Amino acid sequence: MELPTQGALLHREALLKAEQSISRIKDTAGKDPGRLKYHFMAPAYWINDPNGLIFYKAEYHLFYQHYPYAAEWGAMHWGHAKSKDLVHWEHLPIALAPSEPYDLHERGGVFSGSAVDDNGILSVLYTGTVIKDGVLIQSQCLATSQDGITFEKYEGNPVIPGPPEDGSADFRDPKVWKHNGTWYMVVGSSKDGIGKALLYKSPDLRAWNYVGVLAESDGTMGTMWECPDFFPLDGRYVLLFSPMGMGERKTIYLVGDMDYETGRFTWDTMGDVDHGFEYYAPQSFLDGQGRRIIIAWLNAWDWMPWFKDFGPTDVNHWCGAMSAPRTVELDSDSRLIFKPVKELEVLRREHFHIGQTEVTPGASVIPKYVGSDCLEIKAEFEMSGCTAEEIGFVLRGAGDGSQQTLLVYNTKTGVLRFDRTRSDGWSEGVRTAALERTGEEPLKLHIFVDTSVVELYTDNYRTAMTNNIYPEPASIALEVFASGGSANIASLDIWKLRSAW
Ligand code: FRU
Repeated sequence: MELPTQGALLHREALLKAEQSISRIKDTAGKDPGRLKYHFMAPAYWINDPNGLIFYKAEYHLFYQHYPYAAEWGAMHWGHAKSKDLVHWEHLPIALAPSEPYDLHERGGVFSGSAVDDNGILSVLYTGTVIKDGVLIQSQCLATSQDGITFEKYEGNPVIPGPPEDGSADFRDPKVWKHNGTWYMVVGSSKDGIGKALLYKSPDLRAWNYVGVLAESDGTMGTMWECPDFFPLDGRYVLLFSPMGMGERKTIYLVGDMDYETGRFTWDTMGDVDHGFEYYAPQSFLDGQGRRIIIAWLNAWDWMPWFKDFGPTDVNHWCGAMSAPRTVELDSDSRLIFKPVKELEVLRREHFHIGQTEVTPGASVIPKYVGSDCLEIKAEFEMSGCTAEEIGFVLRGAGDGSQQTLLVYNTKTGVLRFDRTRSDGWSEGVRTAALERTGEEPLKLHIFVDTSVVELYTDNYRTAMTNNIYPEPASIALEVFASGGSANIASLDIWKLRSAW
């Protein structure tokens, strides 16, 4: 039997310490009624980006940026979970911990990356981050696993020790895929204030050659591109990235064509993956049914003047969660369509339905018993004959009106707004999206409410918006309203959702 190396022993020790820290707190953290009921969360403490998403040996694997010592960002580890259906997740031991000179630092660690199946070996590429003499050093590293649970860091790490001329010290988040027998990697970077996606290739995941700049900002698309993701979709290619320095726009997609000869991606279509405050670093993978699926972190770094924090849940020993999985499809005009995976339907319990109904100002349409902190809502409003200036929902309302979250469509401006100024006393901000629907086209909304998140889809799933709110558990009132005139519901379906945990 081969003896473990010194490096492997140090890694094991770091993992054990992290596991012990989580074991001590997970029961306490698990009792918080504010925990999400059907979105993925770590057992306790901090979580950010999804990492290493892969459908491996007939199971879905989700790794995630994790700080196992507090409900705040710190030296990064990779947490790990798996699922058979994308809805019910089983926690697995922490997969990666900082332990090597290239990834051991209290403000660094094992940063984001991706996973591939290399002839049965689950192989992950991540960014080792350290700060030496005040200088950021980010390198790309490999770790492999025979059983899909226990990982060994490659002794030849880092496999890419530093950025090329086209990049800078901000050089992270490798996403790897295979094309015609060759491995490719896209890495996020920045140079002179221009966000970039850099392309590498390799025959074996170990020796990497720099190819060139896959795509970069034209000066208006952010100063640093975090978590780039690149994949083919119906004959075209898609680049996703999370830009720093692009104001409220947090997750961008570009659709275009890839030339593997030149290594250049030429795009013609740009859009937002999500229009909300809290949807960042989406990562995609291909599943066993050939679906392209994305999952994102339900929070975002922010540089807004009003930005305070990542939510008030740290007092309950957790912070952060993952979005519900969404499929990615290409529309005929090269825009993307994002739909919640159909597996989520297993969560549906009691169903409330109404057909053709007029909504007039001040009238109540939804019975009280329908309210819940865990709901799926599908609504269709007829727009012909609608005289209302505004149509919308009151979500997570308190009985006495002291808390409410408003989702409002303005029929004159065509703008949908999510207003959380009265959600909970903690949340702030109004988020808007100019919808594509026009004229007589019905307004269709598909909304998922889970304890502290609202994910919403409209424009035939071409527009998504995700925002967090933190109302009291008792604030569960739901109402549909019209103001300035009347509106017509064509159909309204509401399901109470069960917990997946
Ligand atoms: C994105 C990000 C990545 C980095 C990770 C660190 O949210 O900033 O660029 O790898 O988080 O936790």
